[in-house]
Amino acid sequence: MITSKELREKWIKFYEDRGHVNIGAVSLIGDGTTGVMFNVAGMQPLMPYLLGKEHPKGKRLTNVQGCVRTVDIESVGDATHFTFFEMMGNWSLGDYFKKEKTKWSFELLTEVFGFDKDKICSTVFEGNDSVKKDTETAEYLKQLGIKEENIFYLDKSNNWWELEGTVGTPCGPDNEWFYPRHDNPCSDTCDVNCSCGRYVEIGNDVYMQYKKLEGGKYAELENKNVDTGFGLDRLLLFLNGLDDGYKTDLFLDSIKYLEEQSGKEYGKDEEVTKAMRIIADHTRTSVMLIGDVNGITPSNTGAGYILRRLLRRAIRYCKNLGVPSSVMQGVAKIFIEKVYDTAYPLLVEKESYILDQFDKEIVKFEATLVQGMKEFDKCITGINRKNAFMLEKDPNYQKETEISGKQAFRLYDTFGFPLELTVELATENGFGVDVEGFNQAFKAHQELSKAQAQNAKGGLTEQTETTTKYHTATHIMLAGLRKMFGTGTEQKGSNITEERLRFDFNLDHKMTAEELSELQDFVNSVIERGIDVVRTEEKYLEAVEKGAYGVFNAESNDQIVSVYTIDGVDKQICGGPHVSNTKELGKFIIKKEESSSSGVRRIKAILQ
Ligand code: ALA
Repeated sequence: MITSKELREKWIKFYEDRGHVNIGAVSLIGDGTTGVMFNVAGMQPLMPYLLGKEHPKGKRLTNVQGCVRTVDIESVGDATHFTFFEMMGNWSLGDYFKKEKTKWSFELLTEVFGFDKDKICSTVFEGNDSVKKDTETAEYLKQLGIKEENIFYLDKSNNWWELEGTVGTPCGPDNEWFYPRHDNPCSDTCDVNCSCGRYVEIGNDVYMQYKKLEGGKYAELENKNVDTGFGLDRLLLFLNGLDDGYKTDLFLDSIKYLEEQSGKEYGKDEEVTKAMRIIADHTRTSVMLIGDVNGITPSNTGAGYILRRLLRRAIRYCKNLGVPSSVMQGVAKIFIEKVYDTAYPLLVEKESYILDQFDKEIVKFEATLVQGMKEFDKCITGINRKNAFMLEKDPNYQKETEISGKQAFRLYDTFGFPLELTVELATENGFGVDVEGFNQAFKAHQELSKAQAQNAKGGLTEQTETTTKYHTATHIMLAGLRKMFGTGTEQKGSNITEERLRFDFNLDHKMTAEELSELQDFVNSVIERGIDVVRTEEKYLEAVEKGAYGVFNAESNDQIVSVYTIDGVDKQICGGPHVSNTKELGKFIIKKEESSSSGVRRIKAILQ
């Protein structure tokens, strides 16, 4: 068995012996210059040099570079998909070209790794309008002893390498290396192009001599570069004669640990196996992202959100496997201390910090996971019930098959379910999700938050005697709304002028005439009782413990905040100002109740 550590060493040594300098790996987190969130290929950090800039370490470079690709996170759970992998690379920056490169790749495969030259297959570019057929590479391959029938000319969709969607980046035709897993072709025509999976791609030499322009055009680079990438995880699997990536030394101990913790066996039951793979893969990638030089933490935006999704998906699969989520920390420790300790020494240094971040996210998500799962089940039961009911009335009724965007958004917003978690759960239950609707709800929510922030600032533009009165009136009114509709009722916006107050709050229905008069009566009764409005300064947490609430994000529990109390009626964290006694307000009259946005109602009222 060849280990991951040996494989990295062999790679580096082979190219160092041929004049290459090991430049080491760079951060996994994109620096914002390449337009991608994570480093997705070994060549990515080298882009400026492939385009002609001089590299301080010379023209022959090598390294092993970590990459993160989360586009097919859903596929993780099978035997060969990972969200983190390492690419072993080497580069010629305007130095050697096809002759040397074909020779070295061939030598590495046959002499170092022991591949049979008669079985090696190679694919080269068949050419098109802008680039000629790569007979040159094919010729070198033949001279090395690769059988002519094992060399294939393929089109741009196969033998052209470029980063998707990016303009201004280097690219070119490539030469891919394949090897059969076994000697039993599925048919007479079973070759590299066959979909039976017998042939596996083990590496890729890109002859990077073009720059991608707008409109699908290419410009020739002055330098002729070589960009090589061999996936370490994949090659490791292959060299060890395995067909399951979770059986290499990269995962062996983690899987064993998960077996011990769960008392279940890997590879027997499909669901158990899938859960173990997901927990192991996502934990590994999360360790790498948190422990990176530019490490990130879980959040609701950008790369932090991807990290959050990985952690939360793993947490859910811990539930499926029947183990506490804290086993993720056990798995993380194995990666940090045993698997990547030499290749990524920084992880060891940051170990307690990494484990702490795991802990925080686990605590956060677990607080809502159970409730969220109940809520999800309710959605499914609701749809099933409706379908059954409608079908009874009308046998031709088109059954509902989707969780609505609103429901998915609620799961996200209230219970912290990343969208694809809902999608995955829905799929398991034979349903879809209205992703478009989710995006709309998400956008509407963002706009509302923006408006809220503006309102919080501008709710009270000018503090006159009248606007101060209106401000106090909003407090009493909100207290009334919370009494009527529950303490989940919150201020969603406020705008006060000399003439009126306008107040937005969340409520799922249009208020009835009775409700409006009940609210108006409540406010007027508080006014009539002539209660003092008392301002105090308190520590945030203590204020909250005494029942204070408000549109306010404290920086710490000890932050001193201003609290306005109308005894027995209301206690709000608020900057003020307010009247000193409720009787100063006069008579409160509601003028209008209307919708403000989805789930948000608006009241306009005056004082007389
Ligand atoms: N850049 C090439 C790849 O990612 C080597 O396959």
